[in-house]
This record gives sequence, C-alpha cells and structure tokens, in this order.
Amino acid sequence: MSSDHVDVDWDHARATNRANWDDRVPIHEGAYAIDALADTDHRSDVVREDLPALTPWLPNGSLDGLDVCHLQCHIGTDTVSLAREGARLTGVDFSPAALASASGLASRLGLDVAWVETDVLDARAAVTGDFDVVYTSIGTICWLPDLDRWAAQVAGLLRPGGVFFIRDGHPALYALDEDADELVTRYRYFPDGTAQQWDDAGTYAGDGTVANTRTFEWPHPLSEIVNALLGAGLRLRRLDEGRTLPWRFSPRMVETGTGSWAWPEHDRDRIPTTYTIVATRD
Ligand SMILES: C[S@@+](CC[C@H](N)C(=O)[O-])C[C@H]1O[C@@H](n2cnc3c(N)ncnc32)[C@H](O)[C@@H]1O
Repeated sequence: MSSDHVDVDWDHARATNRANWDDRVPIHEGAYAIDALADTDHRSDVVREDLPALTPWLPNGSLDGLDVCHLQCHIGTDTVSLAREGARLTGVDFSPAALASASGLASRLGLDVAWVETDVLDARAAVTGDFDVVYTSIGTICWLPDLDRWAAQVAGLLRPGGVFFIRDGHPALYALDEDADELVTRYRYFPDGTAQQWDDAGTYAGDGTVANTRTFEWPHPLSEIVNALLGAGLRLRRLDEGRTLPWRFSPRMVETGTGSWAWPEHDRDRIPTTYTIVATRD
C-alpha cells in the first residue's frame, strides 16, 4: 500500500526507514546467498555485474590496493566481494543490525573491513580518510530526500582522481505499475520534495515479514541524479542503461540468469530497468 505527496520531516523519515531496514536484516541473512561467499572466488551477483563497468576506470584496471568506500552497504555481501578484489573497504550504513551482520560476515571470511554507522547524508563527516573509489549499488538513493547533499558526500569522500560508481533501478522503471499486465505508469517520475509512503510487511528477498512496515522513498529522475553529481564538481564519464535487474520488480518479470530478472522479451527494449553512472573527481 502506498500514499504519495507525503510531507515528512527527514529525522522522522530516517528513523522510520531505519527501523524497517533493521527488521529486514534477519530475513535477508536467510535469503541472500551468503554461504556461497565461503568460496574465495565467489562474488555477489551485484558486484559480479558491476566490476566490468567499473574496473576500466581504475588505475591498472583493478581494485587491487585501492581504498574503497561502499555507501549503503547493507549486510555486506557486496562489500566483502569488493574486498576480495584486493581493495581496502569501508562499509557505510545507518542500520546497526545490517552493520553487525556485515561485520560478522567479514570476520568469518577473514576480511578486514571498517564499518561506519551513519546516515549517508552525513557520511563525509562520519568516515575517516578519503578514497580512490566510492561505490553504491542497487536500492540506494530512492531512500534519500536530498541528492545535492548526497552528491556532496560522494565528492567529499573522493581523492582527486577518484572514481564514483553507481548502478541502480532506473527512475522510469520506478514509475511503472508493478502489478499491471503491461507497461503502464502508476507512480510519478518527477519530484516535488515530498515522499512516497509505503506500508509493506514484506521485503524483496525472502518470505519473512517485518514489524516496522512503514517506509518513505523519494523519486529522483535521471536528470536530477546527473545534475547533483555535476553540481558537486564531479565529471561524468559514462552513463549506461540496462535491461535486467537483480530483483523481481514485478511478478511479470522473468529470470534471465542467476539473480537477474527482466521484462518478457516483447517488452524488454521498451524501457530501461537500470542506469549506471561513472563519474570522477578532478
Ligand atoms: C537495498 S540495500 C542496498 C544494498 C545492496 N545492493 C544490498 O542489497 O546488499 C539499502 C541499504 O541502504 C541503507 N540505508 C537506507 N537509507 C539510508 C541512509 N539514509 N543512510 C545510510 N544507509 C541507508 C539500508 O540500511 C540498507 O542497508
């Protein structure tokens, strides 16, 4: 269930979202393919897909030896996958439950990762040091009301010459009706500063239910995302749009590979499912 155009104070929205994300952790611990990470060659599906888009922009084409800050790291499956590429990782999230889970995972795998509990909109002040790469992927900025403030954190965390990478659900996808029999819009594409409020006991992975069902999200068109990064002084290097997604946005989506879903073939070229941006700091 959702209601739109909700005028909500950020402190209240953030606390509400955090309670919901804390509740999702035990469900996701059972649903994410965590055991597979015991194999040192294994990478999460998200990181496996992101690496070929990211590494061409890195010195020597590799994460090896680089300092990487992973924003909104959740339970750490992507974070440890990046660490396995030889990078020194700092994982950032506002959910203490997610960070406890992520930290436990890294310890079990023998990986040394720094974890920082903070609102990502305050990340620059909360995180020590600066970074060759700032990475964030899949299910991130829809939780944030203010992309200018977000982009300022990203730029502030990067060293000169550093690389920012994001892949996420495409804002045009988020405007679609997930329950419809065809591609029709249901939600607004353009922002007006107000939130979309959701009440949902489920989550995108696993069958469990959460006690704190309410969340707040904000729509961000592609232009707003790009302009926020440009406004923070970053240089846009690459913008791509994809046809697959690492979660099942709609029951109509079909599985196209491990951890990968897409619209049925006749709809696949009609609308993007993801965007990927690479930007650098001069
Ligand atoms: C869908 S997960 C993203 C990660 C990753 N793709 C994954 O599935 O592991 C979203 C994460 O964003 C975090 N989050 C949401 N709002 C945040 C905020 N304002 N500051 C920091 N973290 C936030 C949540 O706690 C959650 O761990």
